[in-house]
Amino acid sequence: AAEDGLNGWLRYAPIPRAKCFHKKLPSSIVALNATEGSPVYTARVELEEGIKGIFGKELASGTGNGPAATVGTIHAFVEENPTVASSLPGLIEDGFFLNVSHGNVLILGQNERGALYGTFHYLSLLAQGNVSDLLLTSNPDAPVRWVNQWDNMQDGGTHGSVERGYGGDSIFFWDGWVREDLTRAAQYARLLASIGINAVVVNNVNANASILTPENMDGLARIANVFRPYGVQLGISLNFAAPQLLGGLSTFDPLDKSVIDWWQGVTDQLYRRIPDMAGYLVKANSEGQPGPMTYNRTLADGANLFARALQPHGGIVLFRAFVYDHRSLNQTLDWKADRANAAVQYFDGLDTEFEDNVVIQIKYGPIDFQVREPVSPLFSHLIQTGTAIELQITQEYLGQQAHLVYLAPMWKEILDFDLRVDGKRSVVSDIVSGKRFNRKLGGYAGVANVGTNTTWLGSHLAMSNLYAYGKLAWNPSATSTGILKEWIKLTFSHDPQVIDVITKMSMESWPAYENYSGNLGIQTLTDILLGHYGPNPASQDGNPWGQWTRADADTIGMDRTVWNGTGFAGQYPPEVAAMYEKIETTPDNLLLWFHHVPYTQRLKSGKTVIQHFYDAHYEGSATAQTFVPLWQSLKGRIDKERYEHVLFRLVYQAGHSLVWRDSINMFYFNKSGIPDEAGRVGNH
Ligand code: GCU
Repeated sequence: AAEDGLNGWLRYAPIPRAKCFHKKLPSSIVALNATEGSPVYTARVELEEGIKGIFGKELASGTGNGPAATVGTIHAFVEENPTVASSLPGLIEDGFFLNVSHGNVLILGQNERGALYGTFHYLSLLAQGNVSDLLLTSNPDAPVRWVNQWDNMQDGGTHGSVERGYGGDSIFFWDGWVREDLTRAAQYARLLASIGINAVVVNNVNANASILTPENMDGLARIANVFRPYGVQLGISLNFAAPQLLGGLSTFDPLDKSVIDWWQGVTDQLYRRIPDMAGYLVKANSEGQPGPMTYNRTLADGANLFARALQPHGGIVLFRAFVYDHRSLNQTLDWKADRANAAVQYFDGLDTEFEDNVVIQIKYGPIDFQVREPVSPLFSHLIQTGTAIELQITQEYLGQQAHLVYLAPMWKEILDFDLRVDGKRSVVSDIVSGKRFNRKLGGYAGVANVGTNTTWLGSHLAMSNLYAYGKLAWNPSATSTGILKEWIKLTFSHDPQVIDVITKMSMESWPAYENYSGNLGIQTLTDILLGHYGPNPASQDGNPWGQWTRADADTIGMDRTVWNGTGFAGQYPPEVAAMYEKIETTPDNLLLWFHHVPYTQRLKSGKTVIQHFYDAHYEGSATAQTFVPLWQSLKGRIDKERYEHVLFRLVYQAGHSLVWRDSINMFYFNKSGIPDEAGRVGNH
């Protein structure tokens, strides 16, 4: 049963009435130019194992009697069949073409990776019981579809922990080294390839310089070797001060010749070992990390240092926009201080300064992975520079996998948001894909943080988030429910009740969590001192990080207007800025993000802010109570181990949601002294 967790949605479990489908399946398989260890070779293995597992049918190698499956690159296929070239579709990098006709199957990729993606797509259809004829051309929406792992090489000198990881230790590192046994790394790559992810940054953005010792570079090459059969490339996070910390130089100034040479040397050594390395990820001048600003250089100087070192090798640098000073913000003294302003301010004037192989990686919101944030305005400021959106699969502020929170609906709202740059349709997904501003590079970075736990993320249900992340990065117009249902079928069962129940719970989970944590855009209200978990609204003020609510006895919310506040609303293009500038046009769910109002302020719903708090917390936690009996209705329809594992968490969530409800409601009741109209909150 541990295999059920490890295989995630790739179980190839037998489906009902499997035998009836045999006629509609290929009998043999031809893999074109399938050298061992190549993605096309992997594709063949997956096809054999998948069809055997799902249907109990063994495929013969080579062409035989009956229908056949052919898999390979378009190029290899055309070499053997020159006459068909003109009838094949145009594919972009990583794209694939799939033709199923009476059991004859043709799977062609633009590259080897694309051939593997097409294979996984076909197998996913089969596992869902779909053997129909089909003609499909599928191209990714964006070229960058990466996951980030915040894995530490070393943690107090003992082992590899994962920062904000809730699924065990690092699958890559142990005790400062790359693990000997990389079985889990290969299994991870397999899962990621099946959802179109093409690179993994394996170490924490708060990077240890020691990742660049010769021994660790050798270790990284071993990771890249187990990724390669799945078409997954390796990326690493860098410590900006490594020339000093590791290289023994007296400086890490990005314009210093010795520093430039040092990075070129390191980069060359890495590529000697890993010729197909994806590139670098850099967190600089943020939360105490070193960066170019230490030497009064710009962020562009910092990013270009790595970009130039990577250029001869074809690599790219993902440079994070999460730049802010975590020490200096003073809430009491400065009404206009606002951490949300930082990214646009730091990148101001730099749009034309970046090398072509730089992508700015921007968290979806201006603060930090809160339950609801407006879209980061930086997406509307970088026109010439490639951008990627950073989403968080690991549920740092969102219940840390101990709460069910299906994130696709939240991501969709962000990706579909129209920033109206130059008064034209400018949805976030079109900006990061490169379509809106005609750029080549850009896309998605998802902070996944899987670990050694056999469920990967610490919870079986949380895997829907990893699955949805990959699916949306490939095709952001896919629907949250569509993705979810597919995932349930592949992960658990075709049983309609199982599908209905898990769909219902999952689709209600983000609104429920928002309701019982922080609503109206006030932020998540977790304890931000200790681990970002559980309610602690008091910690959301007075802290130097600038995550504030400015709650007092009468009023609450951050005034981010231009006319009277921090000016953040003015960082958006005019139409959007105008909407957020006024209370009347700001949607209720972001009211307290943009405005400082009395608790008695009326919402569009007609309720006061404080009454909405009370009601929402009751509603959200009441929804969480229903998850337990809903799940219990599936007893016997899901294997015992996974059933019990999920149940345990849902019972916990139901209880913890009450803790949330009562702490938040009591906190604001005590602050405001305003009674709950329904008489539930307060001392009775
Ligand atoms: C959050 C998170 C940190 C992380 C940081 C980042 O603040 O709590 O653990 O290092 O984001 O994204 O760099």
